[in-house]
Amino acid sequence: MGAMAWNERMSMEFIIAESAEDMGRRAADRIASFVEADPACVLGLATGTTPIGLYADLVADFKAGKLSFAEVTTFNLDEYRGLAPEHDQSYRYFMKKHLFDHIDIDQARTHVPEGANPDADAVCAAYEQAIAEAGGIDLQLLGLGPNGHIGFNEPEDTFPKATHCVDLTESTIQANSRLFDSIDDVPRQAYTMGIGTIMAARSVLVVVEGAHKAEIVKKAFFGPVTPEVPASILQFHPNATVIVDPAAGELCRDLA
Ligand code: GLP
Repeated sequence: MGAMAWNERMSMEFIIAESAEDMGRRAADRIASFVEADPACVLGLATGTTPIGLYADLVADFKAGKLSFAEVTTFNLDEYRGLAPEHDQSYRYFMKKHLFDHIDIDQARTHVPEGANPDADAVCAAYEQAIAEAGGIDLQLLGLGPNGHIGFNEPEDTFPKATHCVDLTESTIQANSRLFDSIDDVPRQAYTMGIGTIMAARSVLVVVEGAHKAEIVKKAFFGPVTPEVPASILQFHPNATVIVDPAAGELCRDLA
């Protein structure tokens, strides 16, 4: 038997949606189908501007009586180290604002790394243990940082394995400063699931929008797999779906 070309073996599904709204709707439908198939599933969730629309779609589905999150467990990818849950830029606050406070989820089953606890080793070990106790993550939602990061796994020499504390890169601090009063208010560190944690999810779903991400989308999903572009490792995930809006997919039309 001849050797298969890498592209033939690659199981990643790459979808260029018709619009940013269509990207959100398709991603929400994917998440909804997991919840419908297993009402007690474990979802990995993400923050950022990109998933806001899909969370609104999930809230609408819940309000229309189509979906219940009563038995769902969630684990968020990351949290700023040093921000309390009440801080309006904390990821716990974001999740409550965009999803948790509008659906029937049991808030005790929603997990976000404990940003207010400075004991990094304790926070990270507890997070890994909680994920293991929940039976692992069924579907992990991911956004893509402009430098190729997933969660807060920044470009590095190696792929970090487990949940850990990271020093944010200047470019991430810069990119995220738009949401803070001043760049000096952006935390310099974060707790994030590791690449190993993310790769252990049984399925992953990546959403990306905007022309400013077009270059990194091409690199991450069609370029070499390297820790310099952390998201590129998702090419090796056995069950990965990437949904991008037309602007973010612009350079991949002939590759997808
Ligand atoms: C942040 C988050 C990531 C997110 C990324 C992209 O840094 N830690 O999880 O995917 O930003 O965010 P946006 O969708 O706002 O571009």
